[in-house]
Amino acid sequence: MFEKLKSIAADLAGRDIVDLFAQDATRAEKFSVGFDDMVLDYAKTRITADVRTALLDLAQSCDVAAKRDAMFAGQAINETEDRAVLHTALRNLDGGPVLVEGQDVMPDVLHTLAWLESFAEDVRSGRFKGQGGAITDVVNIGIGGSHLGPEMACLGLRPYHDGPRCHFVSNVDGADITDTLAGLDPTTTLVVVASKTFTTIETMTNAETARAWMAGEVSDPAAQFVAVSTAQDKTAQFGIPPERVFGFADWVGGRYSIWGPIGLPLMIAIGADQFRVFLAGAEAMDTHFQHTPLDRNMPVMLALVGLWHHQVCGYPTRAVLPYDQRLARLPAYLQQLEMESNGKRVTMGGTALHGATGPIVWGEPGTNGQHAFYQLIHQGSQIVPCEFMVAAKGHEPHLAHHHRLLVANCLAQSEALMRGRSMDEALALMRKAGFEGDELHRQAAHRVFPGNRPSTTLIYDHLSPRRLGQIIALYEHRVFVEGAILGINSFDQWGVELGKVLATELEPILSGDADGAGKDGSTRALVAYARQHFD
Ligand code: F6P
Repeated sequence: MFEKLKSIAADLAGRDIVDLFAQDATRAEKFSVGFDDMVLDYAKTRITADVRTALLDLAQSCDVAAKRDAMFAGQAINETEDRAVLHTALRNLDGGPVLVEGQDVMPDVLHTLAWLESFAEDVRSGRFKGQGGAITDVVNIGIGGSHLGPEMACLGLRPYHDGPRCHFVSNVDGADITDTLAGLDPTTTLVVVASKTFTTIETMTNAETARAWMAGEVSDPAAQFVAVSTAQDKTAQFGIPPERVFGFADWVGGRYSIWGPIGLPLMIAIGADQFRVFLAGAEAMDTHFQHTPLDRNMPVMLALVGLWHHQVCGYPTRAVLPYDQRLARLPAYLQQLEMESNGKRVTMGGTALHGATGPIVWGEPGTNGQHAFYQLIHQGSQIVPCEFMVAAKGHEPHLAHHHRLLVANCLAQSEALMRGRSMDEALALMRKAGFEGDELHRQAAHRVFPGNRPSTTLIYDHLSPRRLGQIIALYEHRVFVEGAILGINSFDQWGVELGKVLATELEPILSGDADGAGKDGSTRALVAYARQHFD
């Protein structure tokens, strides 16, 4: 599938990105995509017009447009779970009907949204009270898709918060819930138990611990619990009455669920109006994705750049580097979105895939990462395509000089990766510093940067609810396009099952209620060590 592109890549082997700019004064314009005041610049890659044509041909030959339309039309494209994939319906505020098996899902979606809004506003205004009065703190208990999205977006949009404080507990490690609840007043805390299935062991364990914590001071703890789940029978068993259970359909995947009830903490933090702006941003990206020709389609081009680097050039990872401290959790969010979606080993048809599927995604906000792992990105022997993102304007007008420095650093990194520093330049530097002879060459060698390292930059005006909605939807659709071209199912996650099964088997072995006879020697030895050190 990638043969033609691989042969073009081989021909380009000796080409420098810097030369591509020298040969074409309009390269920056030609190799960027704009949408609604955001620009995705992919000019600092080795993608040429021929490469782009071949990538677009590949997208055509893999029926990306038809697959996209099937998703938006509510077809059961998640074939291994026989489900539609319709997180886009949750933000279809201005759209028409969306049919699943002939049934329009929009009345339900809009009804749930209105219900969430009224609950969120009740909490924010103090109409909904805890035993001790108006809610001051909201604790979201969930993991994976029931945690990463709201946590990431709540941090991202902190300048817009005007509601109760939001906290997040995900890890089954008791340290997480202990540290989160410390200092909170149970009588004015609302607990949101967020779990699509309402069976996830981490979430259920934390929810029980939170209920016990609240029961210490609150006579009716269940009155200060709400659930977000598709499993209404299980929420009832836990004791949360149906009037405080916000449901969503099985066609919303966990890692795509921020747009509906799972987004409740965000809605409580920023208010229903701003949450609608967030949804409208994502909806605008959906419209762009559906109706823009592939070569000017931002999610399509971001996906094609990703495939070029991972599948064609063979770079095993990609770094996501937001120059925004408030996007500190975006890399973790994107790790789930990209790696749980496209980390697969068989095609939709169940046959083994040849070659790589999804890359390893990792990152940290800039400028912090510069003082940690950028050394390897600049001079290590592996090439790491970098995806920079930055807002032109910050939220702290009185600290505009901080923001200028932030933007300067972001742009400097992509320039440095591309340009590098030659041996001649390094020699000149070291000569100036007084070195000569063998020592001059030895010192200079350490200061050479190979350059010609690819990066993209997503630049936008300001990190508002609308922009964040667009950025998340951009990445969701990027994942979709990459999966569609690879021919895999981006919407299941069977790879997380085996570990869960084995953990369930191991828990009684650790407690001594079962023996570890069937386990391997290493696991038995680790169990023995842990048992010796339990209290
Ligand atoms: O571990 C995999 C997973 O199923 C994710 O896909 C999901 O986001 C997470 O667990 C949490 O699941 P739930 O919302 O059902 O608790």
